[in-house]
Amino acid sequence: MSLSRVENPCFLLFLFVFQAIFILILYRGGPSNVFRGFLDSHRVLDYSKTHDVYTNLSLFTQAPNEEAMPYCSAQSPIFVGPLTITFRVLPSERMIIKKNPFVQSGGRYRPPHCLARYKSAILVAYKNQEKYLHHLLYYIHPFLQRQQLSYSIYLIQQVGNGTFNRAKLLNVGVREALKDEDWDCLLLHDVDLVPENDYNLYVCDEYYPKHMASAMDKFQYTLPYKSFFGGVSALTPEHYMKMNGFPNTYWGSGGENDDIATRIQLAGMKIVRTSPHLGRYKVMDYNEETETQEPWRRPTSRHNTRKTWKDDGMNSLEFKLLSRTKHPLYTNITVDIGYVPPFS
Ligand SMILES: *[C@@H]1O[C@H](CO)[C@@H](O)[C@H](O)[C@H]1NC(C)=O
Ligand SMILES: *[C@@H]1O[C@H](CO)[C@@H](O)[C@H](O)[C@H]1NC(C)=O
Ligand SMILES: *[C@@H]1O[C@H](CO)[C@@H](O)[C@H](O)[C@H]1NC(C)=O
Repeated sequence: MSLSRVENPCFLLFLFVFQAIFILILYRGGPSNVFRGFLDSHRVLDYSKTHDVYTNLSLFTQAPNEEAMPYCSAQSPIFVGPLTITFRVLPSERMIIKKNPFVQSGGRYRPPHCLARYKSAILVAYKNQEKYLHHLLYYIHPFLQRQQLSYSIYLIQQVGNGTFNRAKLLNVGVREALKDEDWDCLLLHDVDLVPENDYNLYVCDEYYPKHMASAMDKFQYTLPYKSFFGGVSALTPEHYMKMNGFPNTYWGSGGENDDIATRIQLAGMKIVRTSPHLGRYKVMDYNEETETQEPWRRPTSRHNTRKTWKDDGMNSLEFKLLSRTKHPLYTNITVDIGYVPPFS
């Protein structure tokens, strides 16, 4: 019986392939290397061991000759994986500025030691959430620097006492940000979310809009529902224009994200997602009692995206730019986007 197996040509071929793979592994650096790779990936996802977001950032120092700077390494040399995040102490603006010496006016940063491979604009729709803003800036600046990105942070602030319109503010942000720079990637970021792992790269997917906040603590690190597109997402300017941007007509919270998810499909694209092991976020200040009641419901919508998306978006965007100022940590774009129309 065993003899017949050894003589079986398929079994011999299997043995041969198995040996060849084994030899290849040895040849490429030995089993210790394979093992180390495994340990590394374990470290990347071990959320019981976190590191300070500023760890080893001071290793990035000014290159002596800026003209002859090399490209940044494909993977950052200072990645640590899970980050320590707490909202107990409110960081002051002065302290954040001091801890981020290479951030230039307007919240602009280019790695001092190498030529960045990606340029990402971070767009935050904002209305009087100063406490959240300080926490976000304290974490997001070093987080992006760890990834060796060239980036800018834009705050798009809605004036007045009108109802918040996140999607329309982001349309404004995209239009204004693209006046500054040919960004590779637009990151649409809620002010109250902080990423927990520095391997969660703030770069776009080449082909499709990417949903980044795939696991928030507020939803017990799962998606609240299958088509969820809230929190943080990454689109190239091409993706954004292809879907005519975001809708301008969603006032108040909820609803716009489902419209956006539908637009992506209607524009012939699909949503890709950061793996939930990496796309983890901490949400500031949510009410645990009300937020964790299951099931989380999709907000119902009276809008018909299929009918409206081609006429409501970047091509119908109207706003009044009130000011555009460079704060040391961000570019402040203040706009009047109007009020909820009386019979919407
Ligand atoms: C910080 O950098 C040093 C020197 O490269 C390295 O030995 C150390 O492991 C790094 N720390 C972390 C937490 O990665
Ligand atoms: C908002 O402010 C305007 C003028 O400042 C005022 O006329 C209006 O009643 C206010 N609306 C609300 C909802 O407070
Ligand atoms: C943004 O600029 C406006 C107008 O200059 C100012 O009133 C507002 O306080 C600024 N907001 C922030 C968060 O810096």
